[in-house]
Amino acid sequence: MACVPYSDYRSGRKECTRDLFMINSSVKRYWPQYKWSNVLAMIRNMKRDPRRNPEPFRDKLVVITGATTGIGYYTARKYASMNAHLIMVNRDPEKSERVRREIVEEFGTPVDYLIADLALLADIQRVGHDILSLEKPVDVLIHNAGVHLESRRETPEGLEVNFVLHYLCPLIITRMLMPKYQRDRTGRIILVSSEAYRFAVWGLDLEDLQWNRRRYSGLGAYGAGKLAQIQSMHILARELAPYNVTINAMHPGMVRTESGRDNTRWYRWYKKHIIDKYSDSPEISAEALYYLGGSPEVAHTSDVFFHLTTEEELTPPARDPEAAEALWDRTRELLHEQGVAL
Ligand SMILES: NC(=O)c1ccc[n+]([C@@H]2O[C@H](COP(=O)([O-])OP(=O)(O)OC[C@H]3O[C@@H](n4cnc5c(N)ncnc54)[C@H](OP(=O)(O)O)[C@@H]3O)[C@@H](O)[C@H]2O)c1
Repeated sequence: MACVPYSDYRSGRKECTRDLFMINSSVKRYWPQYKWSNVLAMIRNMKRDPRRNPEPFRDKLVVITGATTGIGYYTARKYASMNAHLIMVNRDPEKSERVRREIVEEFGTPVDYLIADLALLADIQRVGHDILSLEKPVDVLIHNAGVHLESRRETPEGLEVNFVLHYLCPLIITRMLMPKYQRDRTGRIILVSSEAYRFAVWGLDLEDLQWNRRRYSGLGAYGAGKLAQIQSMHILARELAPYNVTINAMHPGMVRTESGRDNTRWYRWYKKHIIDKYSDSPEISAEALYYLGGSPEVAHTSDVFFHLTTEEELTPPARDPEAAEALWDRTRELLHEQGVAL
């Protein structure tokens, strides 16, 4: 057995006591607010088809992240088929060019792309500047890029990938666009979220947002990233409201995509033979994202979580205003350490 130095042993015990205290106080806070009816509503919503928006999107501008595969790809095609002007934000130049050419040839709409690794703060900020300098209003901004990782991965900036991609990236870009939204006074922002935010049952550990101290769990970190994204939505919605800009989160359904392609062979086998068998086509996600981006029925709806296109009540930690404020403060500190002002 490895010998644990006494100081580590003591600090380990301290960590353990802190974790137990944190979980205990979160359980006390949220347990009485949990309702079975909330889970049953989610199960009912899983069987609902998305509402459709038949209106064209002529000459309007849509910016979408992660449009090379899966939900982003099908959503880009959907908007293009309705005559939107598209800007994709992808990390892979070759795939981006292939998708651009395919969409232009098929639908004849203008398609551009920006190349950025959205897990890197420097790239996120560069993209934020590029979008900020666009003349045209951004009619719809879809924060879609995402990953599902089985093991912890860190960026060269020392941040956990899930946390940056699902939470910091949409937050920083949206925040950077505030002057544009203030000027243009129009826009809808959609966060491609996930019902997996429910895995963060007792909220976030603000002392360990990067999963340095706890044992990493793929679903746990994914859920935490999505929960952080939803909590930040509440604050962004408040800031965007005076500019006539809405922000909503949506679960895109359980759909067959390339998600998890970098995980172990066992995971990929399980996904292909089990998960994908029960999953839908990402075309339903694209229909839902087109509805949320363009339908007059949701023109003034903001700060709402949709299961595809059905409004759904959030779980207690996801609708807790104090938790959202605490995360906001912690995020400002963390970004300040990285030289980024929020
Ligand atoms: N599939 C589902 O059932 C499901 C359910 C709930 C939520 N979601 C959410 O839906 C969104 C889309 O996922 P998907 O299922 O369509 O997965 P996907 O097929 O793997 O597509 C993910 C997209 O994100 C891009 N991306 C990943 N990491 C990136 C990075 N660091 N920088 C820039 N782009 C990056 C990928 O680009 P590359 O091609 O370069 O890798 C790809 O375009 C995610 O936010 C996911 O959490 C999916």
